[in-house]
Amino acid sequence: MRSPLLNKLSVIFGPRPPVSWLLLCFVSVLALIAVFGSSSSNSLDSVTSTPVPEIFTNYRRLKEQAAVDYFELRTILSGSSRQRELGLCGKERENYVPCYNVTANLISGFKDGEEFDRRCEVPRQGSWCLVRPPKDYKIPLRWPAGRDVIWSGNIKITKDQFLSSGGVTKRIMLLEENQIAFHPEDGLIFDGVKDYSRQIAEMLGLGSDSELFQAGVRTVLDIGCGFGSFGAHLVSLKLMTLCIAAYEATGSQVQLALERGLPAMIGNFISRQLPYPSLSFDTVHCAQCGIVWDKKEGIFLIEIDRLLKPGGYFVLTSPTSKPQGSSTSMKKRNMLTPLEQYTEKICWSLIAQQDDTFIWQKTADAHCYSSNKKNDVPLCKEGYDAPYYQALVPCITGTSSKRWIPIQNRSSSSDLSSAELEVHGVSPEDFFEDLQVWKLALKNYWSLLTPLIFSDHPKRPGDEDPLPPFNMVRNVMDMNAHYGGLNAAFMEERKSVWVMNVVPVRAHNTLPLILDRGFLGALHDWCEPFPTYPRTYDLLHANGLLSHLTSERCGLMELFIEMDRILRPEGWVVLSDKLGVIELARAHATQIRWDARVIDLQNGSDERLLVCQKPFVKK
Ligand SMILES: *[C@@H]1O[C@H](CO)[C@@H](O)[C@H](O)[C@H]1NC(C)=O
Ligand SMILES: *[C@@H]1O[C@H](CO)[C@@H](O)[C@H](O)[C@H]1NC(C)=O
Ligand SMILES: *[C@@H]1O[C@H](CO)[C@@H](O)[C@H](O)[C@H]1NC(C)=O
Repeated sequence: MRSPLLNKLSVIFGPRPPVSWLLLCFVSVLALIAVFGSSSSNSLDSVTSTPVPEIFTNYRRLKEQAAVDYFELRTILSGSSRQRELGLCGKERENYVPCYNVTANLISGFKDGEEFDRRCEVPRQGSWCLVRPPKDYKIPLRWPAGRDVIWSGNIKITKDQFLSSGGVTKRIMLLEENQIAFHPEDGLIFDGVKDYSRQIAEMLGLGSDSELFQAGVRTVLDIGCGFGSFGAHLVSLKLMTLCIAAYEATGSQVQLALERGLPAMIGNFISRQLPYPSLSFDTVHCAQCGIVWDKKEGIFLIEIDRLLKPGGYFVLTSPTSKPQGSSTSMKKRNMLTPLEQYTEKICWSLIAQQDDTFIWQKTADAHCYSSNKKNDVPLCKEGYDAPYYQALVPCITGTSSKRWIPIQNRSSSSDLSSAELEVHGVSPEDFFEDLQVWKLALKNYWSLLTPLIFSDHPKRPGDEDPLPPFNMVRNVMDMNAHYGGLNAAFMEERKSVWVMNVVPVRAHNTLPLILDRGFLGALHDWCEPFPTYPRTYDLLHANGLLSHLTSERCGLMELFIEMDRILRPEGWVVLSDKLGVIELARAHATQIRWDARVIDLQNGSDERLLVCQKPFVKK
């Protein structure tokens, strides 16, 4: 915005005075005012109680105004009338994840694993900057090759971490020049991931792991997933597997899984609940995940109980209980005792045990907890379910929920029955319409994801459509997912992507519906950074999020910088919202160097699309 003074000057000098003149003139004006003003200002400041002659206040106001104008002029000069683009952060921030500062947490006295907790209340330091990619960063390979081969320059890992440490599940990597290859058939404590998965299926009484889906197992929470090979295999069986692991500064399991295009997020429940509602997952899996389950009076098991759907499974593989002859098998029984006690208290039954693997099943009977004589774990107060990083609670949740439906009683079709929809207060008509809207929207978006839309002549009549997508897309984040309609549309269109469905904390909480559909998702407060590593998503989508956020306490600029951090170079952003807020977003997008184009949907509404691409900035 131009100030009145600047306009006045423009009139004096004509419409476009040389910039140096303008600056000279301003400096003179400033000097003049300083001379006039200084004679009066001393007396003014000391005797503020006495009436101030109006002429002096005018001088003062003029002086302040001139300073503002001078500043504005400087900005205009340096930025050539555009707002200044943000600079890149230093090299030390290449793998920066806000809210996870282990050093600071240790200084503050957190220990016993709590130093790896998410703490967003600690103010972030430094000025705004954009996280830069590592020197050797390369765009990830397409699926399916990219699932098994990644560029080693893209992730932060030490040579030692390849070779030693880090548990047995991590030994499946081979270094090939600048690539890391994962061979699911080699190595691992088990004879390969496929055998392991078949073993679990057999322990559940199934003929093979391809029957897991029909048996009601559709979503798996994999705690400490190694490098994601188990999840990669389950995905091929149509089971959605979300990997969670605590923040790791190097060799992060979450960063590696996402780099392979597998669902993962940073998550840690050492002191606080995970950001998922109760009754979220069909199975929770832990293979040497490093959690001491019988610590803290079994509170970690209670958190797993909260997350599991009725009749769901907890699969634990732990070589510490490896039987080695009859004498140690006694020892094994003793070691399991505390775990067995806790699991009995919370109504789980050990349904199978083979080698190092144990499978418990959560009860399908909501009354079990109250009728269980061994149980001294109380039920939580009615209506208690506030999963946004609340403290862990030593009580049972979900038993009075309308969503208490055993996974074995699920309808066999992959989408929800009308009875299941009714539980969420959604009518089948609304639900169907939502899907139709998103199928159409996805068609539109998909054809727009090409650098052609940023050219001066985006498309000429008669031009062929570019082959969509121009770019590679695997990891998608829907930042305001509503019913998960975009995810459903992706599946209907058989696009090989997965979607992290995010439901903002102060929006209508549709996350239970999304999870019941067999999709993945998390609650998130978009005034805070998302718990993921930089460059982990290929496409960010937000419908109506910006207008929702403009009424909140946080700034849009922080959100855009965070989106830039999450997005890989040459990744895409699709925002749809009201015209006004889209214009504002476009200004922000330009400031963080994205290519951006506003698209009018031409359907008579004031909704606009903003399609952006993050450039591959190297310096
Ligand atoms: C983490 O905290 C330490 C100690 O307060 C500080 O020196 C450091 O700059 C912080 N790191 C980041 C990335 O903010
Ligand atoms: C689940 O199905 C079984 C067998 O059909 C039935 O007895 C049981 O009542 C069902 N449970 C619920 C909670 O619907
Ligand atoms: C225009 O299209 C958008 C996105 O597909 C949709 O949300 C909106 O309801 C449409 N408006 C009208 C008036 O049809």
